[in-house]
Amino acid sequence: MCGIIGFVGLRQARPILIDGLRRLEYRGYDSAGLATLSEGRLLVHRRVGRVSELASAVPADLAGATGIAHTRWATHGGVTQANAHPHTDSLGRIAVVHNGIVENMAALKARLVAEGAVFRSETDSEVIAHLIAHFYDGFGPLGDSIMPDVAGDPVAAVRTAMARVRGTWGVAVVFADQPDIIVAARNGSPLVVGLGEGETFLASDSHALTPYTRRVVYLQDRELALLSREGVQTFLLDGGEANPTVHELEEEWGDSEKGDFPNFMLKEIHDQPDALRQCLGGRILAEEGTAKLGGLDLSPRRVMEVSRVGFIGCGTAYHACMVGAAAVEQLARVPATAEIASEYRYRNPVIDPRSLHFAVSQSGETADTLGATREIELKGGEIMGIVNVVGSSIARTCGKGVYIHSGPEMAVASTKAFTNMIAAMYLFALQMGRTRALSPSQGREFAEALRAVPDLVERYLKDPGPIDAAVTAVIKAKNVLFLGRGVSAAVAAEGALKLMEVAYVPCIAYPSGEMKHGPIALLEPGSPVIVIAPDDALKDKTLSNLQESRARGAFIVLITSEGDEYSEMGDVNIVVPRTHELLSPLLTVLPLQLLAYQAGLALGRDIDRPRNLAKSVTVE
Ligand code: G6P
Repeated sequence: MCGIIGFVGLRQARPILIDGLRRLEYRGYDSAGLATLSEGRLLVHRRVGRVSELASAVPADLAGATGIAHTRWATHGGVTQANAHPHTDSLGRIAVVHNGIVENMAALKARLVAEGAVFRSETDSEVIAHLIAHFYDGFGPLGDSIMPDVAGDPVAAVRTAMARVRGTWGVAVVFADQPDIIVAARNGSPLVVGLGEGETFLASDSHALTPYTRRVVYLQDRELALLSREGVQTFLLDGGEANPTVHELEEEWGDSEKGDFPNFMLKEIHDQPDALRQCLGGRILAEEGTAKLGGLDLSPRRVMEVSRVGFIGCGTAYHACMVGAAAVEQLARVPATAEIASEYRYRNPVIDPRSLHFAVSQSGETADTLGATREIELKGGEIMGIVNVVGSSIARTCGKGVYIHSGPEMAVASTKAFTNMIAAMYLFALQMGRTRALSPSQGREFAEALRAVPDLVERYLKDPGPIDAAVTAVIKAKNVLFLGRGVSAAVAAEGALKLMEVAYVPCIAYPSGEMKHGPIALLEPGSPVIVIAPDDALKDKTLSNLQESRARGAFIVLITSEGDEYSEMGDVNIVVPRTHELLSPLLTVLPLQLLAYQAGLALGRDIDRPRNLAKSVTVE
C-alpha cells in the first residue's frame, strides 16, 4: 500500500520522482506528494488526487537533486492535502514518507505534543517526523536527557526514533541541513535501493527502478540505509552495520505499457494466452505425463510424505487457492485446503510438520499473506511461494517456490495473475498426482489438456459471445448472484469480486447448492443470476439451481462449454471452449472478467484504478 520513491544524484530530482510515482501509482492513488532539498531548505508539494494532479502542481524547474516522494492509500486520516505525505517536523527541517502503520501513535504523539510539537495532520506517519526531529536535536527519550551521540547524526536519529515505533514501516527521510543523503528504514514494508553511476535510488517496488538501474539492494526488516551519490551503507536497527548484497534485476520481465489497448485491464485480459504459455513453458513433461517445478526442489520421496497441502492467499489469490486445493485433492488424493491469509495467521493454526503450504500472491507483498508465511515458519511448517513479482518479500521469505510468470500486472483488478496462479497450481497438482496416484496415461491426458489451454483461451478471446447482453442485465441490478459448484464455485466467487471491484455493483457468490439457504430470498423478477455450469460431474445439480432461480423470475446468464446440449438454457448464453473438467476455470473465468470490464466501462468507472482499492495491500 502506498508507494515510495527517492533519489540522490546530480541531476534534477523532480522528473525521476514523478516518473517513479507514476509507476507506483497502482499501489495507492488518493493523494501524492514530494519533497526536494535545495540550498538548505525543504521544498514540499502535495496534492489530493492522482499523480497527474501533483505533476501539474509542481513547477517544472523545481530545484533539488535529492528528494523523496509518495503516493498514498489512506489508512489513518481522510484523503486531504494535510494528510498527504511527505510530513515534516514542526520547524520544517525534516521530511518523511512512510508506508505502514504506527501502532503506538497515540502514546508517542501525546508525549511529543507535551514537548511542544505542532501536528498538522491526522496521520500516524507524522509522528515519525517529529520523533526523528526530537532525537536529531539531541533530546533523550523523555525529552530531558541529552543524547550527544545522536544529535545531528541522521542515521542515529532515525535509528533511535524507529526503535521506539511499534508497527510496520518503510520510511524515507531527508534533512534540510544534509543536502546529499536520504535515510531509509524498513520493518515489514518493502524498500529497495537502486545503485546508479554517481546516483542512488530508493523505491518501495523494484520495477519503479528498472528505467534507471538493474543493480539493487533489498533492505531487510529492521535495517536502515544511508543513501548518497556514492551508493548505500546499511545498518541494523539494533546496532552495528549490515552487509548489503547487490542483486541484478532480471531483464525486462514483460511489457508494462498499454500498447493499443485503452487500459491495462483489457490488455491484461488479452495477455492471458501468452502469459499462460510463459507459465507452462518447459514445465510439462509430456512423455512422463507429469510436471517439473524446479523451484520447489521436491523429491518424489518428500512428495510421498506430504500429509496435507494448504494454499493461502487474499482476494483473487484466495480464489485461485480454492481451485488449487480442488486440483490437489482430485489428482493427488491428498487433503488440501484453501485459506484466507488474514484469518489463518491469527487463528493459531495447527501445523503438521509433514504438510506443505503455499503462499499465493501476485505482488508477493500482501501483508496478511506474508504474516501467514512467517507464522507457518515459526510453527515449524514448510511454506513455498506461488508468486508473480520476482524478488518480492514473500518470494524471498519462502526461499523456494514457483514464479507464475504473468509479467507485470498493472490494473488493480487481477486477471492474468489469477489464471497463471491456477496454472502453476495445476502443474504442482499434476506433479504430486503423478507421484502418488495417477497412471502414466492419466498423467499424460491431464498434461496434454493443460498444454492445450492457452490456445483455447486465445480462441475464446477472439469471439467472446454476447457479453453486451449480460452487461445490460447487471448494470441496472440491485445485486447480482453468481452460482457454481466445485471448481466453478471458485470461479463464481472470482466473477463476483471482479464485478464489485471494477463496476461497484453489489454481488454475492454462492456454491449453487447453498443458494436455497439464503440468497434465493433476494430474487425478484429480472434479478440477474450468473450460472457457471461447464460440462462436469456436477452440472445437473447446478442446472436444477438454475431452474429454481428461473422459477422466481431471475434473468439467467449461463456459462457453459462448447457442445453442451443445455447451452441454450439461459436468457443470455455464453459458451467457452471445452477442456478437461478440472481445468474449466481457466476458460469460464474469461467471460466474467470481460463482463466486469465492460460493466465498469458502461458505468463510467475508472477501470484500472477503482475507487478505494489498491493493487498491493501491505497493511493488515
Ligand atoms: C488486493 C488487490 C487484489 C488482489 C489482492 C491480493 O486486494 O486489489 O486484486 O487479489 O490484493 O494480492 P496479491 O498481490 O497477494 O495477489
